[in-house]
Amino acid sequence: MAEDQTEAVAASAKATTAAEPETAPAASQPTEAAQPATSQPPIEADTEAGPASIPVDDNSADNQTVDEGYAASTTGTNETTSMSSSVRDYQFENNRRYHKFHEGKYHFPNDEPEQAREDMRHCMMVHTCGGALHYAPLKNPQKVLDIGTGTGIWAIDMGDEYPEAEVVGIDLSPIQPSWVPANVRFLVDDAEQPWVTEPETYDYIHIRNMASAVKNWDSLMTQALTALKPGGWIEIQDLNWLLRCDDDTMGPDYSLTQMTKYMGQALSNFGIKLHSPDDNPERLTEAGFVDIRHKIDKVPVGTWPRDPNMKTIGLYNRSTMYDGLHGIAMGPLTRGLKWTPEEVEVFLVSVRKDLLDSRVHSYVHMHTLCGQKPL
Ligand SMILES: C[S@@+](CC[C@H](N)C(=O)[O-])C[C@H]1O[C@@H](n2cnc3c(N)ncnc32)[C@H](O)[C@@H]1O
Repeated sequence: MAEDQTEAVAASAKATTAAEPETAPAASQPTEAAQPATSQPPIEADTEAGPASIPVDDNSADNQTVDEGYAASTTGTNETTSMSSSVRDYQFENNRRYHKFHEGKYHFPNDEPEQAREDMRHCMMVHTCGGALHYAPLKNPQKVLDIGTGTGIWAIDMGDEYPEAEVVGIDLSPIQPSWVPANVRFLVDDAEQPWVTEPETYDYIHIRNMASAVKNWDSLMTQALTALKPGGWIEIQDLNWLLRCDDDTMGPDYSLTQMTKYMGQALSNFGIKLHSPDDNPERLTEAGFVDIRHKIDKVPVGTWPRDPNMKTIGLYNRSTMYDGLHGIAMGPLTRGLKWTPEEVEVFLVSVRKDLLDSRVHSYVHMHTLCGQKPL
């Protein structure tokens, strides 16, 4: 719609790089910020059957231990002082800091504790993928776009891995560091606005941990398809927060199940479907992508698995949850379900208790999905 277009142009004009002054050269100018800036598929067999069950460590005695060892994020916002105030400002609510640009769009904080959680989750997901930063079969990518880049940790790693590529990360929040590889840059922009990117710009578009953010996946995929070069790849990676268990250790009153139910209801009141990873393979096909590849990994909650690698993943997962519970729950439950902050705090007491209970062998699915733009 014309009105939307106007707003998009205005949004684009406001968008700028996280570390560049408003008078930055044309290459870093806002218009570029608004250029976010991805045969019938063999869906992998394990998609249908699901991964194998995880052997349990019967001797797990650390059910009161939470990993405190991960350093807080070193990202800061001091470098953003020259940006326009609408982009630079923050909004504060219930002792948490939220983005100001397109205020109220994303319901989770962007403060230091949340950034630490994001960075730890990055480690967990890359570890779960055996150290790989991508699943798509990339060959010498030249232009890479990371949508909802967060602290920029993936984009920075990607820039290191592909020094010949230009990696652009976009986000609503200017929380990315300024000391980054020369081939990496960050822009503030809203990926759900109409893109003005030149068609066929990117070799690879990466979207991770956006299930609790994106309202219109169809539109996002269609815009990504246009922005990708023929043969380019899109990749979407998300945890699906549906608590699962292969034995009878997870009861019906498991508070994490309750929490994800409430979170799903809260986000759906904003038009966001928490369990979108289930639908995204079909959406990619409908958008026009081919050679869809879909991998599902089990991610344990806690240190209950016997296998040391799964135990590490479970520890990462539990720690990101435990440390981040306040930030995860406060925005959605107060904004979306109109709970008071005190009600949220009381509810989280039982969630914390259940999170530390290694007798419950719960896990979630991590979906890694990619598809190619037809040649
Ligand atoms: C859960 S974090 C994921 C960060 C990063 N992708 C990662 O996996 O480490 C989601 C990020 O998406 C950003 N975001 C949410 N909606 C967005 C939008 N419409 N456009 C751009 N960024 C958005 C948020 O500001 C937040 O930093």
